[in-house]
Amino acid sequence: MRYLVTTALPYANGPIHLGHLLEQIQADIFVRALRMSGDDVIFICGADSHGTPIEINAHKAKLQPCHYVEQWRFAQEQSLSKYLIQFDNGYGSTHTELNQKNTEQIFKKLCNNKDIITKEIDQFFDTQANRFLPDRFIKGECPKCFSFDQYGDNCEKCGAVYNPTNLINPRSILTNETPVIRSSKHYFFKLSKYSNKINEWLNNSDVFQVEVKNSLKDWIGTGLKDWDISRDYPYFGFLIPGEINKYFYVWLDAPIGYISLSEATGRENIWIDSETKIIHFIGKDIIYFHGLFWPAILMSINYNLPSKVMVHGMLTIDGEKMSKSRNTYILADQFHSIFNPEALRYYFACKLSANIEDIDFNISDLCSRINSDLVNKIINLISRTVPLLQKNYNGKITSMEPFIVDRVCEIANSVENYYRAGQINQVIKNVIQIADISNKFLQDLSPWDASKCTAKDAHKVLNTALWSGKVCLGLLKPIIPNIAAKMENLLDLEFVNFKNVLEPLSKPVLKKYIHLFERIVA
Ligand code: MSP
Ligand code: ZN
Repeated sequence: MRYLVTTALPYANGPIHLGHLLEQIQADIFVRALRMSGDDVIFICGADSHGTPIEINAHKAKLQPCHYVEQWRFAQEQSLSKYLIQFDNGYGSTHTELNQKNTEQIFKKLCNNKDIITKEIDQFFDTQANRFLPDRFIKGECPKCFSFDQYGDNCEKCGAVYNPTNLINPRSILTNETPVIRSSKHYFFKLSKYSNKINEWLNNSDVFQVEVKNSLKDWIGTGLKDWDISRDYPYFGFLIPGEINKYFYVWLDAPIGYISLSEATGRENIWIDSETKIIHFIGKDIIYFHGLFWPAILMSINYNLPSKVMVHGMLTIDGEKMSKSRNTYILADQFHSIFNPEALRYYFACKLSANIEDIDFNISDLCSRINSDLVNKIINLISRTVPLLQKNYNGKITSMEPFIVDRVCEIANSVENYYRAGQINQVIKNVIQIADISNKFLQDLSPWDASKCTAKDAHKVLNTALWSGKVCLGLLKPIIPNIAAKMENLLDLEFVNFKNVLEPLSKPVLKKYIHLFERIVA
């Protein structure tokens, strides 16, 4: 089976932060696990380079938008690679000729299918900034609960959803002016036409987690509106063919970016053959786009639908939403300047499951999981046994205690499926269970204490515990690939995969033990 795995394309409008990393690490672990099972996986991502905020920020930075987005694309690629996250054909962008060609072609197909209509619509216009205002660029009083300072699309206080023109005392966040209403022609995709088809698809598949499926069905139940896919000048994006000042809305060319980025790998027919499974990883804030708009477009052009859309909750810091003003907006590069990136990968793995609840980051929790579990339990099985095995037995391998081996194998056997199901926290639980059993065995028999253990037994005990440590790190290889690679090197092993991970050690252990991972202090 071939897989295409994607993560949502981060806006080329700022640095990678821990929230982005949660998703990237989740997907990267999944990809590495599939590859460890021998599956053929194409993994792609890139920067989402269009839209109003990018156009405005490029202007503020006195840069051409195309240079502005390239700077962020490059910076994001660097940050991601520090966390061992790399994509086939590199970290791309949606601002490419290939993506423009694909967007135009798909738009043409949508037109031919009579899925595009144009309408004149009224919108707020800022006469001083000389531009139409997106919903998020207008603030005012909520028409329902009268809270001040609410955005044009919904109220953060009471949750009401409305149009910006319903706001009381609206003003532009760019100039603080009261906007005026102006009309302009917009292009719409006939999303409403696909309600039944999407509903059927949802009913007959398990593409989405249950909670996600339910919200999608609720949205469909209240009636889908046609989707505005155009924006007026000034904008940074692709011009709509035949227009001089109208652009495709970023949310049209961004998911088409998935197609372009996968084509750029040189692999063919990903979106049309039935032998490829498409898997999207996204956060719960963009369910609407990936659960309704995108599948409807794919249905219209007759491309493969995703087999799985894996949705995760939002990352909070000490229980609060990440916030620049509260100084809880942690950047990937900041964390990396203090801690080992695999500490974050391991920590996120402990917290990631297949449900969509928010995930909290807490630094003392991170330290204790690294120090008490990863170092003191898991790596201990190797750091404790290798020096003794070398000192007393010249590093020679012997037979193992079958009672322990059987228990370890039984617990290890479900790990591959936990990875595939996205239950990474369960992977960690199983590995810790293996480590607990093996540490207790090691402690009970104390092969370092001649009064408790004969030399022959001691050799067997050390060998069993070391093997079990190898199994633990082998099973964790998708999560902590560098630590696992050090272990492979230390024990002179073939690359560990899910087929060979339980094999007994066969070669003598002759290399000197060097730390696989250091304890950390916050
Ligand atoms: N550009 C769009 C995605 C287009 S996909 C065709 C976008 N970009 S984003 O930079 O805002 O977010 C990228 C991904 O990171 C999304 O899946 C989003 O959910 C995720 N996260 C951004 N902040 C996050 C947290 N605080 N926590 C967890 N995930 C977060 O949306
Ligand atoms: Zn309100």
